[in-house]
Order: sequence, then structure tokens, then C-alpha cells
Amino acid sequence: KKYKIAVIVGSLRKESYNLKTAKALMELAPESLTTELLDISGLPMFNEDLEGNPPEAWVALRKKIQNADGLLFLTPEYNRSVPGVLKNAIDVGSRPYGENSWNGKPAAIVSVSIGAISGFGANHHLRQSLTFINVPTMAQPEAYIGGAADLFDDNGKLINNSTKDFLKSFIESFEKWVHTIASE
Ligand code: FNR
Repeated sequence: KKYKIAVIVGSLRKESYNLKTAKALMELAPESLTTELLDISGLPMFNEDLEGNPPEAWVALRKKIQNADGLLFLTPEYNRSVPGVLKNAIDVGSRPYGENSWNGKPAAIVSVSIGAISGFGANHHLRQSLTFINVPTMAQPEAYIGGAADLFDDNGKLINNSTKDFLKSFIESFEKWVHTIASE
């Protein structure tokens, strides 16, 4: 069986290290996972007043989440938490009340930072939100990618072999996690 994995990147930057790491993971993903980047740029800010006639971009995002069998989150750390753009996408996908599109989808988190603490704060704040919206998130292995500025070449390709080996084993563990949750 093939599983559709929505890849959600919490940075809109063209040269984003999170995006580069996402692309590396998509290349390393085992055959049974088909991966697709979920576009969260240009999502209007969540406002419950708009639910009567929700913006098209909200409806489209919710459909894409519902169509996915699993979720792979890559997040930068902004001021020791997740960027607003990612939190907004989580909020939009969790509503309207009683129609949480994220519900039950197996997930994994990778935090990527240029710093040495490797996005620990963002990684765990994201875990807190995912727990509440009932997203079973892989506990181990964890993925904290630090010093990201040194891991890629000028074309955005991952050139650090130990990081590559780690990401490969991480995505293989995620495949097992998706399989386990999906067959429950
Ligand atoms: C940052 N950055 C950052 N890094 C970190 O490790 N902890 C932090 O709390 C913050 N805070 C923070 C706030 C804001 C507003 C910005 C713009 C940046 C630095 C961050 O790790 C760096 O910009 C990364 O390159 C962001 O990820 P992308 O865009 O490369 O994926």
C-alpha cells in the first residue's frame, strides 16, 4: 500500500533550510510514501467570523489535509516557538468546530535551525498543538537539525553525510509509524 504524505514547511523563505531539509527527506523517502508539499503561503489569518463563508484557500487546505494519510512537519524556531504561518495553518485546518481535518493522521516533526539548540522550543510547542488536535506524533526518533547553514551546497542539496544517514533512518521510522497507525 502507498501512503500519501503531506509535507508542511513552516518557513516561506525561498532559501529556507527547512524547505531544503524537506526536499532531502522527500528524496530519501521509501517507495511506500508519496510525498507532496502543502502550500501554506497566502492563507488568510484565521478568523472565526469568516467561517460562514470561508476563504477558498482555507477550504483547499482542509481538503488537502483530509486527503493525506500522514503528515510530515518541518519547523523553524521563531522566538523559541513555531512561526505564526505554521500555527495559522494548524488553526485553519482544525476548524470549523467539530471538523478537524488533522484528526488521527500520523505525523512526525523535524525542527531545523541555524543555531545550536536546533529548534527544540518550536519542536515541542508544535507537539503540544498536535496532541490537542489528536494527531498521533512519532515520539522517537526525534529530529533536531542544528547548524543548518553548513549542511547544504549552493544548489540547496544536502551535503552532510551524517545528516543524510540520520534523515534516512528517520524517514524509515516514520514509514513504520504511518503503517502502524494506519492499520489500527
Ligand atoms: C529566528 N531564528 C531563531 N533560531 C533559533 O534557533 N531560535 C529562535 O528562537 C529563533 N528566533 C527567530 C525569530 C525570527 C523572527 C527569525 C526571522 C529567525 C533564526 C532561524 O533559525 C533562521 O532564520 C532559520 O534560517 C529559519 O529557518 P528557514 O527559514 O531557513 O527554514
